[in-house]
Amino acid sequence: MAYGHGKVILFGEHSVVHGRPALAKSVPNGAEVTAVLSKSGLTTLGISPWGVQLDTGPTPIVPHEKLQAALKIARDFYDDDVELTLSASMHLPGGAGMGSSAALGVAVLRAMDEARRIERPEQEIFERSLVWERVFHGNPSGIDNAMATHGGLATFRRGPEPLSERLKPFVPRHPPRLLAGYSGPSPSTALMVQGVADLLARKPEETNKQFDAIEAIVNNGKLALEQGNMRDLGQLMTMNHMILASYFLLSTPELEKMISAAKGAGALGAKVTGGGGGGCMIALVDSDQTYASVKAALAALGPVYDV
Ligand code: PMV
Repeated sequence: MAYGHGKVILFGEHSVVHGRPALAKSVPNGAEVTAVLSKSGLTTLGISPWGVQLDTGPTPIVPHEKLQAALKIARDFYDDDVELTLSASMHLPGGAGMGSSAALGVAVLRAMDEARRIERPEQEIFERSLVWERVFHGNPSGIDNAMATHGGLATFRRGPEPLSERLKPFVPRHPPRLLAGYSGPSPSTALMVQGVADLLARKPEETNKQFDAIEAIVNNGKLALEQGNMRDLGQLMTMNHMILASYFLLSTPELEKMISAAKGAGALGAKVTGGGGGGCMIALVDSDQTYASVKAALAALGPVYDV
């Protein structure tokens, strides 16, 4: 069995695309893939519970052409005649800001290696999964792939250096307790990323100031985690959300409803996570009691995940 992790971004989504740091926590084993040899002449991929079935044949599989293209790219990494039947189990919502496509990519690539008895360094899995991810996201920063490959709690910065120099895992004083609420589908992350890139091109000075503010929030967020200061951590999440919502216009009425319900039920802070424009929000809780009340408040509005 091969795995890829999902992730939630605590701080720094979007600015991370433009070379600023971000801080994320993995959602362990968000995707699991098993591989057995196939005699059909094609590599196939079944994904449950999404009800998706794909193959590397020439017939376009509507409406999953992108997934099919990514599967073909993964298969083409190997110069051999080994064809596999891949079965994936997803424990993450798709297209919701929790890194499902990167998690699936890493799990598929690892399963393809496992079936061939290849042990590949993390750096190469990361690079291959980034090629997979570009099919879906156009210009990904790589944070989803870094988290899908390595897991844990870490800061990440985009750049030419090896992954080990850009992904910096660290140990929090207390693991943060987070809940994610799904507000409904979002437009593609690629579209949301393009919107922020357009804003940066139109208003470089103002936009860079917002990126500066987010960078300071990322740095302070890491300190708050290392010191176990959950109140500060929650406030920083809410501050990051304010910038994403008011300047980058990445929130929606549904997300705002969930964020205010979580805070009303005792969350220390809450924000949109990932691409935005829909998808997921996250809320920080600090006790069993607030965990239960925030979970109930969010569950009344949509699906809730422990992250
Ligand atoms: O929506 P997701 O889970 O793919 O998160 C994307 C995070 C962004 O910063 C918006 C894009 C990126 O590539 O870093």
